[in-house]
Amino acid sequence: MQIIKLSAIDSTNSYLKQLAANQTLPDYTVVMAENQILGRGQRGGKWQSEAGKNLMFSIIADISFVGLNKAFFISVATSLAVVKTLKAFDIPKLKVKWPNDILSANKKICGILIENTVAKQKLKNTIIGIGLNVNQTKFANLPQASSLKNITGEQYDLDALLSTIVNKLKHYISMLKQGRYDDLMQEYDDLLFRKNRPSTFTDKNGSVVLGIIRNITPSGKLVVELEDGVLKEFGLKELTLLY
Ligand code: BTN
Repeated sequence: MQIIKLSAIDSTNSYLKQLAANQTLPDYTVVMAENQILGRGQRGGKWQSEAGKNLMFSIIADISFVGLNKAFFISVATSLAVVKTLKAFDIPKLKVKWPNDILSANKKICGILIENTVAKQKLKNTIIGIGLNVNQTKFANLPQASSLKNITGEQYDLDALLSTIVNKLKHYISMLKQGRYDDLMQEYDDLLFRKNRPSTFTDKNGSVVLGIIRNITPSGKLVVELEDGVLKEFGLKELTLLY
């Protein structure tokens, strides 16, 4: 695996995207940084991470064999790769909060930012950015954040975690290539945070919605049973789970 290690960068996703715009990179090229000055999160948010203590990396893959209508499965494959890795490192109580936050014991330990380039109605390049909180122990003003060290008390080797994630990602992307969507969705569904439990959300207008997560559609929408028993599908920016 080709790996580019940087001491500091604005964002590994931005750096890799720029690199890929200027040259053809081998699949699974990784850019890893000890520190990000402008780490980016989902929905335009920031990703904060203490220098040198956590994994912050991006990986490029050609996933153009996946139809645009199935792009959500890249989130599925990535989430499963991270969860499988963490299981191998004996991290307890792992769940995936839709669409792709990884939780342990109800706290977020990993965030994923997937950025696709689309050309002629097809996926061209996919950049998968992963921020895994590993050896950091203090998360000021982030009450829902935690790290592997906070959860188990142990110190972890970043390179060992990185290579396991990349290997598992290759495995799940090969499942995607084989068209094993049902198997992937089944594994994802089994890990879904708050599935079948009454939960509170906010919708895109900030209004509170009460409901029960039932499942995920193949296009990645969250199916929520509302108070009146009606099943409603919500897209990525339409609903936020409060927990
Ligand atoms: C989120 O949960 O909001 C997604 C966070 C993704 C963070 C990672 S860290 C490496 C890569 N580079 C970035 O700028 N973001 C991702």
